[in-house]
Amino acid sequence: MQVQIFQNKEALHRAVAERIIAEVKQNPQSVLGLSTGSSPIDTYANLVRDHQTQGTDYSRVRTFNLDEYVGLPGSHPQSYRYFMNEHLFHHLNIPMENTYVPSGIGDLEKECEAYENEIKRQGGIDLQLLGIGTNGHIGFNEPGTPLDSRTHVTRLLQETITANARFFSTVEEVPTEAVTMGIQTIMEARQIVLLAYGSKKAATIRDAVRRPVTENVPASVLQHHPDVALYLDEEAAALL
Ligand code: F6R
Repeated sequence: MQVQIFQNKEALHRAVAERIIAEVKQNPQSVLGLSTGSSPIDTYANLVRDHQTQGTDYSRVRTFNLDEYVGLPGSHPQSYRYFMNEHLFHHLNIPMENTYVPSGIGDLEKECEAYENEIKRQGGIDLQLLGIGTNGHIGFNEPGTPLDSRTHVTRLLQETITANARFFSTVEEVPTEAVTMGIQTIMEARQIVLLAYGSKKAATIRDAVRRPVTENVPASVLQHHPDVALYLDEEAAALL
């Protein structure tokens, strides 16, 4: 695992954005794996600014998001489809049909299988962007998820529901299930970039990087991936 530590969040987001931009410039047909949550918001703002000022071209890029809440249509302001449209897709020249986010409504088993097939059909993910939950989850692969899992429906743990309640008016509104790429799906990406900042993530980062690989800390499996870079601020890296 390659670890890069930045003095502040601004420098961290700039560096992650530069990494994604370099990937897109080097391969204009890149397949990007993307995440939601608070972690990547400013990274996406950097990508949008670069597109507007430097004209980086996304017309042939394809994207696959990690996850979506069960029961929320893409028009719901707290759905991850809506989040991606607002923070990124609507501000780039990426055709909407090239942006894939799992569907949280309809026949979910079928949707999970179709998602895996579509990733394969597009040639696999070149660069996967990840955040990390305070319990070590990546995507919505909560502790205990088998390391060989593929896209599936998962029940969110109470701590994840509580953590994500900040985006909803009440905790009762937070969906209790989600569709997520599996750990094996994530591990098949050719490059992985994980970003984390703030002292709340420090213990999890230590467990993922320095402790043995275990299903109890899903991000620890990244130790087995040949091309992973962690972009951290000093607070998140404090216990390494
Ligand atoms: C979101 C996702 C999650 C988040 C994680 C951290 O698509 O896959 O694993 O990356 O919950 O969330 P934040 O960034 O809000 O701390």
